[in-house]
Amino acid sequence: MTVNWCLLRSTQIVAISKLLLNILKLQILFFFRHLISFNLMKHASLDALAHQEDAVLVSLAMEAEGKIGQREKKMTRKEILERKKAIENVIKSASAVKDHLSFFPHFRHYRTNGLYAHLEAGCGNKLTLHRKRYIQNLLKLNMEAPYGPEWPAEEKIKRREMVAKEACYIFVYEISSEDVDEMSRLGDRAKTCSCEGPIVGFVHYRFILEEEVPVVYVYELQLEPRVQGKGLGKFLMQLIELIACKNRMGAVVLTVQRANLSAMDFYIGKLGYTISAISPSRVDPLLGLEKSYEILCKTFDDEAQAVLEIKSQRTNYMENRYETEHGMDDHMIKSEERIEFKYSWSRIFLGRCC
Ligand SMILES: CC(C)(COP(=O)(O)OP(=O)(O)OC[C@H]1O[C@@H](n2cnc3c(N)ncnc32)[C@H](O)[C@@H]1OP(=O)(O)O)[C@@H](O)C(=O)NCCC(=O)NCCS
Repeated sequence: MTVNWCLLRSTQIVAISKLLLNILKLQILFFFRHLISFNLMKHASLDALAHQEDAVLVSLAMEAEGKIGQREKKMTRKEILERKKAIENVIKSASAVKDHLSFFPHFRHYRTNGLYAHLEAGCGNKLTLHRKRYIQNLLKLNMEAPYGPEWPAEEKIKRREMVAKEACYIFVYEISSEDVDEMSRLGDRAKTCSCEGPIVGFVHYRFILEEEVPVVYVYELQLEPRVQGKGLGKFLMQLIELIACKNRMGAVVLTVQRANLSAMDFYIGKLGYTISAISPSRVDPLLGLEKSYEILCKTFDDEAQAVLEIKSQRTNYMENRYETEHGMDDHMIKSEERIEFKYSWSRIFLGRCC
């Protein structure tokens, strides 16, 4: 009996030991899995901010498997954080400049096609009542038609955007021919407009992150009808592009109502802007049909180009077809035709899909 008991006991002990060992193994396994997924999650969220998701996730997975060392891991994290901070600082310092015109004194005055104008910088949270009213009236005059039934809601949004502290402005004041002489005598010293000419237009722009690329976003470019077609719009956009480059922005980005054909033609046909990869019509043709606007851009570096400009094969194909049928340099092509072609193609594509 004693021997049997002893045998039974030793068998039990072995069984219990095996069980305990297995439990321990499992716990160790769970612990390591938890550690790895925690690391991955932690770094994935950092990475989302630093725009290098795949590289970091792969490196962290390798690291968890002990394939790369601790030192390299720290370098990657450091780089990510440094990059994020650098971009934030670029935006911050660009937004902190009170008068971007001070870097481009030759852009303070405009004298072409019989139009004499003086430019002044402004800020959204320092607008006078006169300037606020002017902006609202000109927006209504120029934009009510292109927005159509969307205008009442859009007008409210624009009123809020108008006074934001991030809103940077360039106001255009018309100057009389008598004052022109005085202005030219003062030259670059004529920083503020002593002459009492009326405002004839303005640009509202901001320094923001678009898909993690620092950009100048043109919220509004509005000119009174009587000063349109005199080169002023082009002049103001050239100034905006200079401001963007001076402040190390990757691109100038803006939104245009598709119904605003003359603006589409101005930006795409005359100033060389392209429909951005982030524009609804480029993201998804169906979405493009739902939305009434396009996002346009002009990029200044490789990263901005890769994020904002690279086109899908579908749209490239569509454009190639358009160019083959109509010729590359045919500036006589109306934007109506271009847009119609694009959307008829989208419809064909959707038809094929469904
Ligand atoms: C769109 C707008 C900013 C253009 O400014 P503008 O001063 O009239 O344009 P410019 O005189 O600088 O024109 C620059 C070029 O574009 C061409 N252009 C201007 N308006 C055009 C139009 N309606 N149709 C076709 N081409 C046009 C000009 O012929 C010129 O070409 P060129 O360089 O070969 O001579 C201005 O017309 C405007 O304020 N429109 C109403 C508001 C609006 O739509 N804003 C844009 C919303 S995002």
